[in-house]
Amino acid sequence: MINVAIDGPAGAGKSTIARKVAADLGYMYIDTGAMYRSLAYKAITGGISISDEPMRVISMLDDTALDIKYIGGTQHMLCDGSDITDYIRTPEVSAGASAIAAIPEVRAWLLQSQRSLASDNNCLMDGRDIGTVVLPFANIKIFLTASAEARAKRRYDELILKGEDVTFEDVLSDMIKRDNNDSTRACAPLKQADDAILVDTSDLSFDESVAKIKNIIADKVGDK
Ligand code: DC
Repeated sequence: MINVAIDGPAGAGKSTIARKVAADLGYMYIDTGAMYRSLAYKAITGGISISDEPMRVISMLDDTALDIKYIGGTQHMLCDGSDITDYIRTPEVSAGASAIAAIPEVRAWLLQSQRSLASDNNCLMDGRDIGTVVLPFANIKIFLTASAEARAKRRYDELILKGEDVTFEDVLSDMIKRDNNDSTRACAPLKQADDAILVDTSDLSFDESVAKIKNIIADKVGDK
């Protein structure tokens, strides 16, 4: 199987770019952030304070069933049988996902299913620790980044389009906070793998970014 690991900070365009590249190449796109978001959503709606009550989060895992389903090529998250895909992109769930992702037991709980998806499918898997921890032997590793301002602007535009009531300043400061949280945690922090190719999308359009990733994959494995 061909496994492409894509890591990078929030808002670098990983998911939209990886989804398009995967569709073009006929690979599976696996968004691991959605897994952390789903667990955070369950904890929040269950009244658990993620940062203050990590033991409650850990015991929640014992009666949690998380599944991924593809509907029309789009990844849907099923938590305990309910499709929660539409509820996991709010700023509250973003912050909760970053907090829950710092709990080592949560990461260990997700690791096996992430690895088995990759071993069964040609895939592009995106996250923070894919090239460093989840798939250290991935055929190709890409570290996708962009300036904090460019990333916040994209996330702000997305949220406004969805009708969320946010300011650019809040989105930027949430993003900087989340990057800091994700890259300074003790367990599997966000960092570029030694053998990852760095792609900065600050000045690239969506199509240029897609073409760049496809070229990197083509150079390594010959798929166009
Ligand atoms: O990619 P995203 O913004 O949907 O991810 C949500 C949070 O989950 C992010 O703040 C960090 C965490 N995450 C992680 O720690 N490891 C991954 N492989 C994917 C996401």
